[in-house]
Amino acid sequence: RNIGELTRFLGEERFEAAVREGKKIKTGFVPTMGYLHEGHASLLRRARGENDLVVLSIFVNPIQFGPNEDFERYPRNEKQDLALAEREGVDAVFLPSVEEMYPKPTRTKIKVEGLTDTLCGASRPGHFDGVTTVVGKLLHIVQPDRAYFGQKDAQQAAVVAQMVEDLNFPVRIVPCPIIRENDGLALSSRNVYLSPEERRAALVLSKSLLKLQAEVEAGERKTAAEAQRAIVLAIEAEPLASIDYVEIVRFPSLEPLEGGADLGETAEREGVLVALAVKFGKTRLIDNVIFMNK
Ligand code: PAJ
Repeated sequence: RNIGELTRFLGEERFEAAVREGKKIKTGFVPTMGYLHEGHASLLRRARGENDLVVLSIFVNPIQFGPNEDFERYPRNEKQDLALAEREGVDAVFLPSVEEMYPKPTRTKIKVEGLTDTLCGASRPGHFDGVTTVVGKLLHIVQPDRAYFGQKDAQQAAVVAQMVEDLNFPVRIVPCPIIRENDGLALSSRNVYLSPEERRAALVLSKSLLKLQAEVEAGERKTAAEAQRAIVLAIEAEPLASIDYVEIVRFPSLEPLEGGADLGETAEREGVLVALAVKFGKTRLIDNVIFMNK
Protein backbone atom coordinates (compact mmCIF):
# COMPACT_ATOMS: atom_id res chain seq x y z
CA ARG A 1 0.00 0.00 0.00
CA ASN A 2 1.13 3.47 -0.78
CA ILE A 3 1.30 5.27 2.55
CA GLY A 4 2.71 8.40 1.01
CA GLU A 5 5.46 10.21 2.86
CA LEU A 6 5.81 7.41 5.44
CA THR A 7 7.16 5.03 2.80
CA ARG A 8 10.46 6.83 3.26
CA PHE A 9 10.88 5.04 6.58
CA LEU A 10 10.80 1.63 4.93
CA GLY A 11 14.12 2.48 3.29
CA GLU A 12 14.52 2.81 -0.44
CA GLU A 13 15.42 -0.83 -1.06
CA ARG A 14 12.64 -2.41 0.91
CA PHE A 15 10.19 -0.01 -0.68
CA GLU A 16 11.38 -0.85 -4.20
CA ALA A 17 11.10 -4.57 -3.41
CA ALA A 18 7.56 -4.13 -2.15
CA VAL A 19 6.64 -2.44 -5.41
CA ARG A 20 8.31 -5.24 -7.45
CA GLU A 21 6.35 -7.84 -5.48
CA GLY A 22 3.17 -6.37 -6.87
CA LYS A 23 2.15 -4.38 -3.81
CA LYS A 24 1.15 -1.45 -5.96
CA ILE A 25 -2.38 -2.69 -6.59
CA LYS A 26 -4.64 0.31 -6.12
CA THR A 27 -8.12 0.00 -4.70
CA GLY A 28 -10.88 2.52 -5.34
CA PHE A 29 -13.83 2.59 -2.95
CA VAL A 30 -17.34 3.97 -3.41
CA PRO A 31 -19.42 4.01 -0.21
CA THR A 32 -23.20 4.24 -0.74
CA MET A 33 -26.55 3.56 0.89
CA GLY A 34 -27.76 1.69 -2.20
CA TYR A 35 -30.80 2.19 -4.46
CA LEU A 36 -28.13 3.01 -6.98
CA HIS A 37 -28.60 5.46 -9.83
CA GLU A 38 -26.45 7.20 -12.48
CA GLY A 39 -24.89 9.46 -9.81
CA HIS A 40 -23.50 6.42 -8.00
CA ALA A 41 -22.59 4.84 -11.37
CA SER A 42 -20.51 7.91 -12.26
CA LEU A 43 -18.42 7.42 -9.10
CA LEU A 44 -17.97 3.72 -9.90
CA ARG A 45 -16.87 4.54 -13.45
CA ARG A 46 -14.34 7.09 -12.22
CA ALA A 47 -13.03 4.54 -9.69
CA ARG A 48 -12.90 1.86 -12.40
CA GLY A 49 -10.79 4.13 -14.58
CA GLU A 50 -8.28 5.03 -11.85
CA ASN A 51 -7.75 1.79 -9.89
CA ASP A 52 -6.95 -1.91 -10.26
CA LEU A 53 -9.77 -2.98 -7.96
CA VAL A 54 -13.12 -1.31 -7.28
CA VAL A 55 -15.03 -1.91 -4.05
CA LEU A 56 -18.61 -0.74 -3.52
CA SER A 57 -20.34 -0.70 -0.16
CA ILE A 58 -24.10 -0.62 0.32
CA PHE A 59 -25.21 0.12 3.86
CA VAL A 60 -28.15 2.21 5.04
CA ASN A 61 -26.44 3.61 8.10
CA PRO A 62 -28.94 4.01 10.96
CA ILE A 63 -26.75 6.36 13.02
CA GLN A 64 -26.80 9.13 10.41
CA PHE A 65 -30.61 9.36 10.45
CA GLY A 66 -32.49 11.48 13.00
CA PRO A 67 -35.38 9.99 15.01
CA ASN A 68 -38.02 11.53 12.70
CA GLU A 69 -36.15 10.85 9.47
CA ASP A 70 -36.62 8.17 6.82
CA PHE A 71 -34.30 5.33 7.98
CA GLU A 72 -37.11 2.74 8.00
CA ARG A 73 -38.55 3.68 4.63
CA TYR A 74 -35.24 4.51 2.87
CA PRO A 75 -35.56 2.80 -0.56
CA ARG A 76 -33.73 -0.52 -0.94
CA ASN A 77 -33.28 -2.86 -3.92
CA GLU A 78 -30.36 -5.23 -3.52
CA LYS A 79 -30.98 -7.20 -6.70
CA GLN A 80 -31.02 -4.14 -8.93
CA ASP A 81 -27.98 -2.67 -7.12
CA LEU A 82 -25.93 -5.85 -7.66
CA ALA A 83 -26.86 -5.85 -11.36
CA LEU A 84 -25.66 -2.23 -11.67
CA ALA A 85 -22.45 -3.08 -9.78
CA GLU A 86 -21.79 -5.93 -12.18
CA ARG A 87 -22.44 -3.74 -15.22
CA GLU A 88 -19.98 -1.15 -13.90
CA GLY A 89 -17.22 -3.71 -13.37
CA VAL A 90 -17.19 -3.60 -9.56
CA ASP A 91 -14.84 -6.25 -8.10
CA ALA A 92 -16.33 -6.56 -4.63
CA VAL A 93 -19.52 -5.40 -2.93
CA PHE A 94 -19.58 -5.02 0.85
CA LEU A 95 -23.17 -5.35 2.12
CA PRO A 96 -22.99 -5.53 5.89
CA SER A 97 -26.03 -5.86 8.15
CA VAL A 98 -26.65 -3.32 10.92
CA GLU A 99 -25.61 -6.01 13.45
CA GLU A 100 -22.30 -6.56 11.65
CA MET A 101 -21.46 -2.85 11.59
CA TYR A 102 -22.71 -2.13 15.12
CA PRO A 103 -22.56 -5.50 16.96
CA LYS A 104 -22.87 -4.09 20.47
CA PRO A 105 -23.41 -0.63 21.84
CA THR A 106 -20.45 1.23 20.37
CA ARG A 107 -18.87 3.94 22.46
CA THR A 108 -16.63 5.63 19.91
CA LYS A 109 -17.70 8.26 17.41
CA ILE A 110 -15.85 10.46 14.98
CA LYS A 111 -16.90 14.09 15.16
CA VAL A 112 -15.57 16.79 12.83
CA GLU A 113 -16.07 20.16 14.47
CA GLY A 114 -17.03 23.46 12.86
CA LEU A 115 -17.72 22.21 9.35
CA THR A 116 -20.69 20.24 10.70
CA ASP A 117 -22.49 23.12 12.45
CA THR A 118 -23.78 24.81 9.29
CA LEU A 119 -26.02 23.97 6.30
CA CYS A 120 -27.32 20.38 6.67
CA GLY A 121 -25.53 20.02 10.01
CA ALA A 122 -27.70 22.79 11.47
CA SER A 123 -30.98 21.12 10.46
CA ARG A 124 -29.85 17.52 11.04
CA PRO A 125 -28.10 17.44 14.44
CA GLY A 126 -25.76 14.46 14.78
CA HIS A 127 -26.11 13.54 11.09
CA PHE A 128 -22.49 14.18 10.16
CA ASP A 129 -21.19 12.39 13.27
CA GLY A 130 -23.05 9.35 11.96
CA VAL A 131 -21.56 9.84 8.50
CA THR A 132 -17.95 10.28 9.66
CA THR A 133 -18.21 7.38 12.10
CA VAL A 134 -19.48 4.97 9.44
CA VAL A 135 -17.13 6.26 6.73
CA GLY A 136 -14.22 5.92 9.18
CA LYS A 137 -15.22 2.32 9.90
CA LEU A 138 -15.70 1.53 6.19
CA LEU A 139 -12.31 3.01 5.29
CA HIS A 140 -10.68 0.84 7.97
CA ILE A 141 -12.47 -2.28 6.75
CA VAL A 142 -11.89 -1.76 3.01
CA GLN A 143 -8.49 0.00 3.23
CA PRO A 144 -8.74 1.66 -0.18
CA ASP A 145 -6.16 3.92 -1.81
CA ARG A 146 -8.85 6.25 -3.09
CA ALA A 147 -12.43 6.91 -2.00
CA TYR A 148 -14.97 8.64 -4.24
CA PHE A 149 -17.57 11.15 -3.04
CA GLY A 150 -20.14 13.14 -5.02
CA GLN A 151 -20.35 16.94 -4.84
CA LYS A 152 -24.13 16.44 -4.65
CA ASP A 153 -23.36 16.18 -0.94
CA ALA A 154 -20.73 18.94 -1.00
CA GLN A 155 -20.72 19.39 2.77
CA GLN A 156 -20.31 15.64 3.31
CA ALA A 157 -17.33 15.56 0.92
CA ALA A 158 -15.72 18.51 2.76
CA VAL A 159 -16.34 16.94 6.19
CA VAL A 160 -14.92 13.55 5.13
CA ALA A 161 -11.85 15.22 3.56
CA GLN A 162 -11.25 17.08 6.84
CA MET A 163 -11.56 13.85 8.86
CA VAL A 164 -9.10 12.05 6.59
CA GLU A 165 -6.62 14.88 6.90
CA ASP A 166 -7.00 15.37 10.66
CA LEU A 167 -6.79 11.65 11.51
CA ASN A 168 -4.15 10.65 8.91
CA PHE A 169 -6.30 8.11 7.09
CA PRO A 170 -4.01 6.76 4.31
CA VAL A 171 -6.55 7.42 1.55
CA ARG A 172 -7.13 10.06 -1.09
CA ILE A 173 -10.62 11.54 -1.21
CA VAL A 174 -11.72 12.14 -4.80
CA PRO A 175 -14.61 14.59 -5.27
CA CYS A 176 -16.86 13.96 -8.30
CA PRO A 177 -19.35 16.26 -10.09
CA ILE A 178 -23.15 16.18 -9.62
CA ILE A 179 -25.07 14.05 -12.12
CA ARG A 180 -28.47 15.44 -13.14
CA GLU A 181 -31.55 14.20 -15.01
CA ASN A 182 -31.99 15.69 -18.50
CA ASP A 183 -34.34 18.30 -17.05
CA GLY A 184 -31.80 19.33 -14.39
CA LEU A 185 -33.02 17.54 -11.25
CA ALA A 186 -30.03 16.21 -9.31
CA LEU A 187 -30.21 12.42 -9.10
CA SER A 188 -31.01 11.13 -5.63
CA SER A 189 -32.27 7.85 -4.20
CA ARG A 190 -34.89 9.97 -2.42
CA ASN A 191 -36.40 11.24 -5.71
CA VAL A 192 -38.66 8.12 -5.72
CA TYR A 193 -40.58 9.63 -2.79
CA LEU A 194 -41.80 12.53 -4.96
CA SER A 195 -45.34 12.59 -6.37
CA PRO A 196 -45.54 13.65 -10.04
CA GLU A 197 -46.54 17.18 -8.92
CA GLU A 198 -43.67 17.39 -6.43
CA ARG A 199 -41.25 16.04 -9.04
CA ARG A 200 -42.27 18.87 -11.39
CA ALA A 201 -42.09 21.47 -8.62
CA ALA A 202 -38.62 20.26 -7.55
CA LEU A 203 -37.19 21.54 -10.83
CA VAL A 204 -37.18 25.01 -9.29
CA LEU A 205 -34.02 24.00 -7.37
CA SER A 206 -31.78 23.12 -10.30
CA LYS A 207 -33.36 25.85 -12.47
CA SER A 208 -32.52 28.63 -10.00
CA LEU A 209 -29.02 27.25 -9.25
CA LEU A 210 -28.09 26.66 -12.90
CA LYS A 211 -29.46 30.08 -13.87
CA LEU A 212 -27.16 31.68 -11.30
CA GLN A 213 -24.26 29.58 -12.55
CA ALA A 214 -24.86 30.67 -16.15
CA GLU A 215 -25.10 34.33 -15.11
CA VAL A 216 -21.89 34.26 -13.09
CA GLU A 217 -20.06 32.33 -15.80
CA ALA A 218 -21.22 34.94 -18.36
CA GLY A 219 -19.45 37.56 -16.23
CA GLU A 220 -22.55 39.18 -14.67
CA ARG A 221 -21.73 40.90 -11.42
CA LYS A 222 -23.69 39.45 -8.53
CA THR A 223 -23.23 39.76 -4.81
CA ALA A 224 -23.80 36.81 -2.51
CA ALA A 225 -26.82 38.55 -0.97
CA GLU A 226 -28.39 39.26 -4.40
CA ALA A 227 -27.82 35.69 -5.56
CA GLN A 228 -29.24 34.22 -2.34
CA ARG A 229 -32.30 36.49 -2.53
CA ALA A 230 -33.01 35.58 -6.17
CA ILE A 231 -32.95 31.86 -5.38
CA VAL A 232 -35.15 32.28 -2.29
CA LEU A 233 -37.71 34.29 -4.31
CA ALA A 234 -37.80 31.69 -7.10
CA ILE A 235 -38.35 28.86 -4.62
CA GLU A 236 -40.93 30.77 -2.59
CA ALA A 237 -42.94 31.24 -5.80
CA GLU A 238 -43.35 27.46 -5.92
CA PRO A 239 -46.29 26.53 -3.63
CA LEU A 240 -45.17 22.92 -3.02
CA ALA A 241 -41.69 23.96 -1.87
CA SER A 242 -40.74 24.78 1.70
CA ILE A 243 -37.22 26.11 2.27
CA ASP A 244 -34.96 24.61 4.92
CA TYR A 245 -31.99 26.80 3.92
CA VAL A 246 -30.42 28.62 0.97
CA GLU A 247 -26.87 29.64 1.80
CA ILE A 248 -23.72 30.90 0.13
CA VAL A 249 -20.47 30.00 1.88
CA ARG A 250 -16.77 29.59 1.17
CA PHE A 251 -15.73 26.14 -0.06
CA PRO A 252 -14.39 23.85 1.30
CA SER A 253 -14.09 25.73 4.62
CA LEU A 254 -17.88 26.38 4.70
CA GLU A 255 -17.17 29.69 6.41
CA PRO A 256 -19.70 32.47 5.83
CA LEU A 257 -19.25 34.76 2.84
CA GLU A 258 -20.16 38.43 3.36
CA GLY A 259 -23.41 39.42 1.61
CA GLY A 260 -21.60 42.17 -0.31
CA ALA A 261 -18.97 39.84 -1.80
CA ASP A 262 -19.09 39.56 -5.60
CA LEU A 263 -19.48 35.87 -6.54
CA GLY A 264 -17.38 35.89 -9.71
CA GLU A 265 -14.60 37.87 -8.07
CA THR A 266 -14.53 35.70 -4.94
CA ALA A 267 -14.41 32.56 -7.09
CA GLU A 268 -11.20 33.86 -8.69
CA ARG A 269 -9.53 33.50 -5.29
CA GLU A 270 -11.37 30.68 -3.51
CA GLY A 271 -14.23 28.22 -3.87
CA VAL A 272 -17.79 29.41 -3.32
CA LEU A 273 -20.62 26.98 -2.51
CA VAL A 274 -24.25 27.90 -3.15
CA ALA A 275 -26.19 25.20 -1.31
CA LEU A 276 -29.83 24.61 -0.50
CA ALA A 277 -32.17 22.16 1.18
CA VAL A 278 -35.86 22.32 0.38
CA LYS A 279 -38.79 20.12 1.37
CA PHE A 280 -41.48 18.94 -1.03
CA GLY A 281 -44.10 17.30 1.16
CA LYS A 282 -42.13 14.98 3.44
CA THR A 283 -39.20 14.74 1.04
CA ARG A 284 -36.15 16.86 1.76
CA LEU A 285 -33.97 17.49 -1.31
CA ILE A 286 -30.53 19.09 -1.46
CA ASP A 287 -28.71 20.63 -4.40
CA ASN A 288 -25.82 23.05 -4.99
CA VAL A 289 -23.42 24.68 -7.39
CA ILE A 290 -19.75 25.31 -6.67
CA PHE A 291 -17.79 28.18 -8.21
CA MET A 292 -14.09 27.48 -8.27
CA ASN A 293 -11.97 29.16 -10.92
CA LYS A 294 -8.59 28.27 -9.52
P1 PAJ B 1 -25.63 7.97 -0.81
O1 PAJ B 1 -26.65 9.03 -0.63
O2 PAJ B 1 -26.06 6.62 -1.31
O3 PAJ B 1 -24.51 8.53 -1.78
C1 PAJ B 1 -23.36 7.79 -2.04
C2 PAJ B 1 -22.41 8.68 -2.85
O4 PAJ B 1 -23.01 8.99 -4.11
C3 PAJ B 1 -22.12 10.02 -2.15
O5 PAJ B 1 -20.74 10.33 -2.28
C4 PAJ B 1 -22.99 10.98 -2.92
O6 PAJ B 1 -22.51 12.31 -2.92
C5 PAJ B 1 -22.94 10.39 -4.31
N1 PAJ B 1 -24.08 10.86 -5.12
C6 PAJ B 1 -25.39 10.77 -4.82
N2 PAJ B 1 -26.14 11.38 -5.78
C7 PAJ B 1 -25.27 11.89 -6.68
C8 PAJ B 1 -25.40 12.65 -7.90
N3 PAJ B 1 -26.58 13.02 -8.37
N4 PAJ B 1 -24.27 12.98 -8.56
C9 PAJ B 1 -23.05 12.63 -8.09
N5 PAJ B 1 -22.85 11.92 -6.95
C10 PAJ B 1 -23.94 11.55 -6.26
O7 PAJ B 1 -23.89 9.73 0.85
C11 PAJ B 1 -24.21 8.65 1.32
O8 PAJ B 1 -24.87 7.69 0.59
C12 PAJ B 1 -23.88 8.27 2.75
O9 PAJ B 1 -23.91 9.42 3.56
C13 PAJ B 1 -22.52 7.53 2.91
C14 PAJ B 1 -21.35 8.39 2.44
C15 PAJ B 1 -22.55 6.21 2.11
C16 PAJ B 1 -22.30 7.18 4.40
O10 PAJ B 1 -23.33 6.43 4.90
